[in-house]
Amino acid sequence: MGEKQQVVIRGSMVHIVDDPFLHPAKECLRYEPDGMIVVEDGKIVQSGPAANILKTLPEGTDYETYQDKLIVPGFIDTHIHYVQTDIMGAFGKQLIDWLNTYTFTAEQKFKNPVEGKRVAEFFCDELLRNGTTTALTFCATYPESVDQLFEAATKRNMRMIAGKVMMDRNAPKGLEDTAKGSYEDSKELIKKWHKKGRNLYAITPRFAPTSTPDELEVAGKLWSEHPSTYVHSHLSENVDEIAWVKKLFPERKGYLDVYDHYGLTGKRAVYAHGVHLTEAEMQHCYDTGTAISHCPTSNLFLGSGLFSLEKAKDARRPIEVGLGTDIGAGTSFSMLQTMNEAYKVAQLRKFPLDAIHTFFLATLGSARALDLGDKLGTLEVGKEADFVILDPLATPLLKERMQFVSSIEEQLFVLMTMGDDRSVAATYIAGNKAYERGE
Ligand code: GUN
Ligand code: ZN
Repeated sequence: MGEKQQVVIRGSMVHIVDDPFLHPAKECLRYEPDGMIVVEDGKIVQSGPAANILKTLPEGTDYETYQDKLIVPGFIDTHIHYVQTDIMGAFGKQLIDWLNTYTFTAEQKFKNPVEGKRVAEFFCDELLRNGTTTALTFCATYPESVDQLFEAATKRNMRMIAGKVMMDRNAPKGLEDTAKGSYEDSKELIKKWHKKGRNLYAITPRFAPTSTPDELEVAGKLWSEHPSTYVHSHLSENVDEIAWVKKLFPERKGYLDVYDHYGLTGKRAVYAHGVHLTEAEMQHCYDTGTAISHCPTSNLFLGSGLFSLEKAKDARRPIEVGLGTDIGAGTSFSMLQTMNEAYKVAQLRKFPLDAIHTFFLATLGSARALDLGDKLGTLEVGKEADFVILDPLATPLLKERMQFVSSIEEQLFVLMTMGDDRSVAATYIAGNKAYERGE
């Protein structure tokens, strides 16, 4: 047996260890002004006050100290399309028009493996630059677009969840698959990538309008044959979309019922948006363990609506909710900026979110939505050592503003309001520094 690979870092640590929507927020916050983390073979083996941990380490143990920084868990993006990186900020359409005008055109370029590789590499680097260490990611319909993403993620040892888009109607012919082909390709990709290294596979029907009943049926069949994989799709994002689903599936009670009918609800089923869910649908998400990815920058950009976080997290039937950027309808890779917009959306619903609630959504909340709460989302012993070094003083304006905060909660709140990629000093993946600002 070789020596265990050990990494030790010291600095202020902050993480949220339980759901503040269900427990007193202050009890969920852990703040260690002079903390230390010891990582062995990619996992956290010690975490706590530096003074205590230093005593347990052999004299002369090497460690890196981060002065005036905050060590936080890696951010988790529960909904993003890597193949839409190059259409961010496309002007002026709501969902269906936006899909037809920009998205379906952009995704066809992933037929070209050279382009796919280029964008996949860029995408993973951009996640790391923003402190995002795990993402649940849409690829394109082409199986090669999945290979390219998992290859790029594997190179960086990121915990990536992704899958081939299943889409056999209502899209350009060049982008469509068939139910049979989609089943075979997805099955092959599951065999190739699911649980290989840190990769996990998501069965990815785009949304109900672009899959025939036959294709939704094979999606459900794939999941029943590979129950440890994920289901990843879109749900109740836009009112015209919901009306379209009603027309296409008149026999179903509603949008979520379409997915439910084909066996696509349950733990590890993650649906983006859920902006217009009914109370009965929220109850059904709770009953089945189906999770929602809240994507505030996208919902504002496409004018989709204001997600009812206060209803989704109702303590009587709390749904697992994570945060998503939904690039390319989303407007930033930064989960700090996504938190900022989540706060504003909630404000418009008279539900102000403090920093503890919002950081929870981007870390442990997202981990739990992905059924990875035992592996990711906090800096506790036993977790995988994905973390971010945040710089609260990254810009002249932040330096000015931070002189006037008087608690860690205030500091976090200013950071999520005014911070972005510039605030990420370094990103660690499984204990190794995978990104350092300015390097
Ligand atoms: N619904 C179906 N496809 C998409 C997509 O690519 N982006 C968004 N925001 N919604 C969708
Ligand atoms: Zn999306």
